[in-house]
Amino acid sequence: MLKINNIETWYDLIRALHGISFEVKQGDIVALLGSNGAGKSTTLKTIMRLLYDLKEEQPEKGTIEFMGERIDRKNTDEIVRMGISYVPEGREVFPELSVLENIMMGAYTRRDRKTIKDDIDHVFDHFPILKARKDQEAGHLSGGEQQMLAIGRALMSRPKLLMLDEPSLGLSPLLTRDIFTIIRDINQKDGVTILLVEQNVNMALKYANFAFLMENGRIVRAEKPEILREDEDVKEFYLGIAKETSVKGYQRYRRKVRFR
Ligand SMILES: Nc1ncnc2c1ncn2[C@@H]1O[C@H](COP(=O)(O)OP(=O)(O)O)[C@@H](O)[C@H]1O
Ligand SMILES: [Mg+2]
Repeated sequence: MLKINNIETWYDLIRALHGISFEVKQGDIVALLGSNGAGKSTTLKTIMRLLYDLKEEQPEKGTIEFMGERIDRKNTDEIVRMGISYVPEGREVFPELSVLENIMMGAYTRRDRKTIKDDIDHVFDHFPILKARKDQEAGHLSGGEQQMLAIGRALMSRPKLLMLDEPSLGLSPLLTRDIFTIIRDINQKDGVTILLVEQNVNMALKYANFAFLMENGRIVRAEKPEILREDEDVKEFYLGIAKETSVKGYQRYRRKVRFR
């Protein structure tokens, strides 16, 4: 469904993505994992073409295909209209607008005004709390509710592929589980393919069908979650289950990653 081929993205003189390639298959929940600064957010922003004003051509190299069509030179609105929706890191809801107005903003690329009402009801089915608060200012919602609102807004463009950047950031373990359950519902009941960026590796590996691990702007692993969950290096550095002193372990890990 989504094919990333040898993408290179720069911030001025800094190369953030060093020629990454990966694929998201239709119907899957795919996790893009890695520590802070690995290039996960840059990857999603590159796909959405949110960085092209930094440089005339962004990505600099490589191709991105969605449903068999090149999207690496399309603009963001066209990409949304083709069926990719994106929930940025930190949610970015409009704090002074009401919950309902925020949800409506997600339909901005659509022309089929009549069905919008049905879709709002559908968002409320996923998130009953948003219905109860539909007239409140979004800025007054809790962090978890704002995350729900951001996801609900993203659903309003009727995506085939939903990309989420760290939906669990700053949420309690309980709320994190709620959010992940809803993401799975959106995947299974609505048939929306999911590309999920997470630092909560443990949680992401429970819900994903496939996972890519990023380090320093490169994809270093592509595995089924059950394989990563049992991997000693992953356990040690991402799940915090240390087996030896971490400096030594980290050096061993770096050596391995470099030669892959
Ligand atoms: N706007 C920016 N300007 C310059 N460098 C950036 C910018 N955004 C991210 N970077 C750099 O690009 C690299 C990847 O960042 P990012 O994609 O945000 O990583 P992640 O989401 O995995 O934490 C980091 O080294 C980061 O410092
Ligand atoms: Mg990020």
